[in-house]
Amino acid sequence: MSQTPSLSQLQQPDAFLRRHLGPDAAEQQAMLEVLGLASRDELIEQTVPPAICLTGELQLPAALDEQAALAKLRGYAEQNQLWTSLIGMGYYGTVTPTVILRNVLENPGWYTAYTPYQPEIAQGRLEALLNFQQLTIDLTGLDLASASLLDEATAAAEAMALAKRVAKAKSNLFFVDEHCHPQTISVVSTRAEAFGFELVVDDVANLGRHQVFGALLQYPDTHGEIRDLKPLIEHLHAQQALACVATDLLSLLLLTPPGELGADVVFGSAQRFGVPMGYGGPHAAFFATRDEFKRAMPGRIIGVSKDARGNIALRMALQTREQHIRREKANSNICTAQVLLANIAAFYAVYHGPQGLKRIAQRVHRLTAILAAGLEQKGVQRLNEHFFDTLTLEVGGAQSAIIESAKAARINLRILGRGQLGISLDETCDEDTVERLFDIFLGADHGLSVEALDAGQVPEGIPAGLRRSSPYLTHPVFNAHHSETEMLRYLKQLENKDLALNQSMIPLGSCTMKLNATSEMIPITWPEFANLHPFVPREQAQGYTLMIDELEEWLRAITGFDAICMQPNSGAQGEYAGLLAIRRYHESRGDAHRNICLIPASAHGTNPASAQMASMRVVIVECDAEGNVDLEDLKRKAAEAGEQLACLMATYPSTHGVYEEGIREICEVIHAHGGQVYMDGANLNAQVGLARPADIGADVSHMNLHKTFCIPHGGGGPGMGPIGVRAHLAPFVANHPVIELKGPNPENGAVSAAPWGSASILPISWMYIAMMGPQLADATEVAILNANYLAKQLGGAFPVLFSGRNDRVAHECILDLRPLKAETGISEEDVAKRLMDYGFHAPTMSFPVPGTLMVEPTESESKHELDRFIEAMLSIRAEIAKVQNGDWPAEDNPLKRAPHTLADVIGVWERPYSIAEAVTPTEHARAHKYWPTVNRVDNVYGDRNLFCACVPLDDYRE
Ligand SMILES: Cc1ncc(COP(=O)(O)O)c(C=O)c1O
Repeated sequence: MSQTPSLSQLQQPDAFLRRHLGPDAAEQQAMLEVLGLASRDELIEQTVPPAICLTGELQLPAALDEQAALAKLRGYAEQNQLWTSLIGMGYYGTVTPTVILRNVLENPGWYTAYTPYQPEIAQGRLEALLNFQQLTIDLTGLDLASASLLDEATAAAEAMALAKRVAKAKSNLFFVDEHCHPQTISVVSTRAEAFGFELVVDDVANLGRHQVFGALLQYPDTHGEIRDLKPLIEHLHAQQALACVATDLLSLLLLTPPGELGADVVFGSAQRFGVPMGYGGPHAAFFATRDEFKRAMPGRIIGVSKDARGNIALRMALQTREQHIRREKANSNICTAQVLLANIAAFYAVYHGPQGLKRIAQRVHRLTAILAAGLEQKGVQRLNEHFFDTLTLEVGGAQSAIIESAKAARINLRILGRGQLGISLDETCDEDTVERLFDIFLGADHGLSVEALDAGQVPEGIPAGLRRSSPYLTHPVFNAHHSETEMLRYLKQLENKDLALNQSMIPLGSCTMKLNATSEMIPITWPEFANLHPFVPREQAQGYTLMIDELEEWLRAITGFDAICMQPNSGAQGEYAGLLAIRRYHESRGDAHRNICLIPASAHGTNPASAQMASMRVVIVECDAEGNVDLEDLKRKAAEAGEQLACLMATYPSTHGVYEEGIREICEVIHAHGGQVYMDGANLNAQVGLARPADIGADVSHMNLHKTFCIPHGGGGPGMGPIGVRAHLAPFVANHPVIELKGPNPENGAVSAAPWGSASILPISWMYIAMMGPQLADATEVAILNANYLAKQLGGAFPVLFSGRNDRVAHECILDLRPLKAETGISEEDVAKRLMDYGFHAPTMSFPVPGTLMVEPTESESKHELDRFIEAMLSIRAEIAKVQNGDWPAEDNPLKRAPHTLADVIGVWERPYSIAEAVTPTEHARAHKYWPTVNRVDNVYGDRNLFCACVPLDDYRE
């Protein structure tokens, strides 16, 4: 017999699976042996409650290899048509500088990082976010900015909520200028309804007729008009109401900033600062307000503090405001929030600098002015007197002919009712665009020339009284990195400060920091996905439709739900969207009084925050000593709620890292009382292919595509949190005012600005599922194996707080540091910081149980990496023993002093442990040293001395 293997033996049908999984078959076997098991099947049998187990394989197409999946998706992408979109409405063509494209957007050093909860290993992205805040402050003319929000429309809703929190006016009425973008009005209406605010959408001329707690104005408005907001703002202030202003970042380079006109909150989208339109997202929203409202600010604020050596160090300020601490008292439910895109926008400003940005704005404005002058000369009536980049034109009966010529030229205009058309120019437009527009509007023999118009007298579009005179972006960071070499090095310097997945595992419990494979990432910057305006006619987005429809079908197969709503652009947004669907469902049955939401004590803080946003009353259900929902307490509270029970929000497997045995019964109890079950899908990575939320009893659940389905965390966003619903809830999910979605009731408002949320990152999840197929179940099983292996190896040194059947954990486990702290004074924080010296990102700290570390290795980490983590943790345990034994003083030891920096070792060393013990505690650290760039950051100082803008260079010299 021939020894030569056959072709079929040489083919690898599971090629990607092998790349996605960390441990190979031999490593898995070795880990199983440590657990005393013969096979993965045995582990799963011992771990997952039989009552919830899926019988049979996932109904998904067979896995494609990387090249085949890319080719199939390429086929879809080619069905998108790339026209020139001059629709405006908050989305504009932009040029991502290639140095930023390659070194940030396409660079795992930036896109695989996590939210900077551990500031000592995140100074790079904290600096980028601080730049974003400075950019926002300078351009809006306000005192204080937050790091980023999800999109312009949700930022508007956050502005309204802030206004209600802080306004002295007693009114319950919020006014919205009818000339705001329609998607903004829709999202604000949805939110107002949920909060129980009254809303009036009207012409600003009628503002004086209302007593309000705040108003939403837009500057320039959706039709391009620029009006002096000062009188309106003064009128609002006279009523002790707040003025919230939506604005356009590029226009603010030429316009008087709203802050100087007296606005209290100013926000908008930073998309056109170098972030592709992406068929709707992801993009960062900016948000600025007055210093006096800082404690009411939604989202994260980056602040300047100092480290243990007194050096400047950045951190997320006022973290006690974060949802997990404030829960239902939180200002908003924002968690994942577009950090990567905020960084890109800030880098765009760093790259161009104030002069470069101004030139871009002036060029866009000049082109618009030339277009306006030419059309005016030829008698086309313009409806907005003033403009920056947008013209609204009255074309009457010529509308359809103009639309037809625009189609022939592959140009999308904004089509308004009553014979009107809108045009918005952007950075990608040039003389040729304007020439083509003349042809479209006037026919070929119009006789106009851009050159001639440019040479003549072209009237300015910006009113004389509203031209910007104040300086901006004067900080050196915006004036130093304009050559590509300087920019490249600046990006690299910041990247080097941070620890991302390309350096080591990030075992953050509940965050699922798994592989974001390169093949999954490649398609997102294909122009056919990146450069589509979200409101193009559907026929131009056929490729998106095919991809999204297929992804929805697959997610339905994975979760068991009947319908998917792709709009929410984060997990927390999914929670809010799901709760609204529940609310509408109850209302449709005459049960509007059902407003109690039961939430287990172990829940993530976004759960109660979202419930509060949906106007539900939160009742906490206790957990028992094993970490499970206390069934008796649940039954009692469900019975007490009775006719008022709206729903339960439960995470499964629970945040305690175990598969609760009673989950089916829990769902039954809720249903028996007429309630609905919302399943927080953050831990879906422990279910895929083994169990399905809908089969277990959930009525609705969100899927964090940025956890289970491989969208990278981007340093704190982007994300996608689509919700799956059972059929009875399907009519009640979000719709959209501009692009009507099939399925949900058309009158349902939007929850995000774009119809499919952050559509351009959906190819990542599509690729993952296409390349895994039914083998997704293998990923889940290996995630469980990895977690149990860690629990077994570390349990002796640090007790595992909760375990399920047969002492097994799910895909994560909680290590209890409290007993050690009581004995030695070494806290979970000391261990977290010490891990940095070993080159690791800490596990999730003090969530869901204070004083603990929650470890989630994911399936993508190899046994080698897990062993390295185990080695580090056991070595740290031995260091704690030295403190315990008195070998090292309680306050002067490597744990309390961690993390160590270069500054420590180049100074005089007078510590009771050696430099080598401090900075190279393992072989690996010696070979691949990662240096945190600051020592432990002083949290209290940072909050007491809140400073949230770029630090003057002299302060670094002090
Ligand atoms: C259990 C749980 N629920 C909800 C969320 C919120 O998800 P997102 O950050 O996508 O808004 C998280 C985030 O980590 C979580 O861990």
